[in-house]
Amino acid sequence: MSNIGVKIVSIDCEVAKNVITNDDLTKILDTSDEWITTRTGIKERRVVSGDESSTTLGISAAKKVIKRSNFNIKDIDLIIAAASAPEDVYPSVACLIQEATGADNAVCFDIKAACSGFIYALSCACAYIKSGMYKNVLIVATDATTKFTDWSDRSVCVLFGDGAGSAILTASNKEDDIVGINLISDGASGDFITLKTQGINCPLVDKIEHEVKPFIQMKGKDVYKFVMTKIPPKLEELLQDTNTDVKDIDYFVPHQSNQRMIDALAERLTIDNSKVISNIEHYGNMSAASIPVAIREGIDKKEIKLPATLMISAFGAGMTGANAIIKLDENI
Ligand SMILES: CC(C)(COP(=O)(O)OP(=O)(O)OC[C@H]1O[C@@H](n2cnc3c(N)ncnc32)[C@H](O)[C@@H]1OP(=O)(O)O)[C@@H](O)C(=O)NCCC(=O)NCCS
Repeated sequence: MSNIGVKIVSIDCEVAKNVITNDDLTKILDTSDEWITTRTGIKERRVVSGDESSTTLGISAAKKVIKRSNFNIKDIDLIIAAASAPEDVYPSVACLIQEATGADNAVCFDIKAACSGFIYALSCACAYIKSGMYKNVLIVATDATTKFTDWSDRSVCVLFGDGAGSAILTASNKEDDIVGINLISDGASGDFITLKTQGINCPLVDKIEHEVKPFIQMKGKDVYKFVMTKIPPKLEELLQDTNTDVKDIDYFVPHQSNQRMIDALAERLTIDNSKVISNIEHYGNMSAASIPVAIREGIDKKEIKLPATLMISAFGAGMTGANAIIKLDENI
């Protein structure tokens, strides 16, 4: 193991401007505030409109975190964007962020791990920093899932919202804010959540027989079961591997997908409710952005008091899962 540590310098975020409430949704769907609230805990969500997109949200979150960190943009040598449903297939969102921020010295690429994207990006950043290959990394997790939602599918469209989260990480020979990370990938459960896109075949060959629309399809109950069976053992493994007592976790910040799942995960881990950070009521599931947005907002609202040790946990299409224990200091 290298003795290079990883310092989390700053975390920031952006959310889409438009607020759509459950009552608004009753105008286009056979649903109710009561159904959505009791099944999910969601009351409202942010939805991109006009020219807003996962790219514009990601650029804004990137600019905010750079400003907050006081980092010289020219010192950023790697940008990783966790962008699973980007506006364009290419250029990458990371390259677009580079162009918009002037991070000319950075190498840029995207990763795709759906709602687990922020922690997957964190793990990549850590590996690069600890290897000595890059020193100053900007990660941006951005999704505008509402653009890939069938707004007549009430079992899916009520769940999602749009936002972006960002973080700057740097090499440190004094401290390591990443206590541990573990990741899960389970391609065999790939059909639990899908977002299929199709090109068009060459006119000289057969047409595609089954056309698909670029909408999220989800087997909600299977997702629920996957999370409850796969995530708690990996969280316990992470605590064990890092010699961390669950009592030493100051805050648990799980992926904001469903309040019932958040409560059930906290209960399985015997984490007191007072330590659980949840903002799902106002944002719904913002995919990879959920965790950094919840952290930034928790700090700003003084629900998270720093310095603190956080356990973060995400899951999403793939299926993927990702957990980490991180430390945040007062200047985040
Ligand atoms: C999606 C989820 C809230 C659905 O809850 P559920 O209790 O499983 O509900 P069901 O799908 O069994 O639906 C129950 C009934 O409610 C109806 N229903 C579904 N969505 C509805 C809505 N928005 N409003 C009103 N009724 C709705 C269904 O049609 C069904 O009616 P029926 O019994 O007449 O067929 C839940 O399965 C879930 O949260 N799963 C995890 C999904 C997730 O987190 N995905 C993202 C992971 S990153």
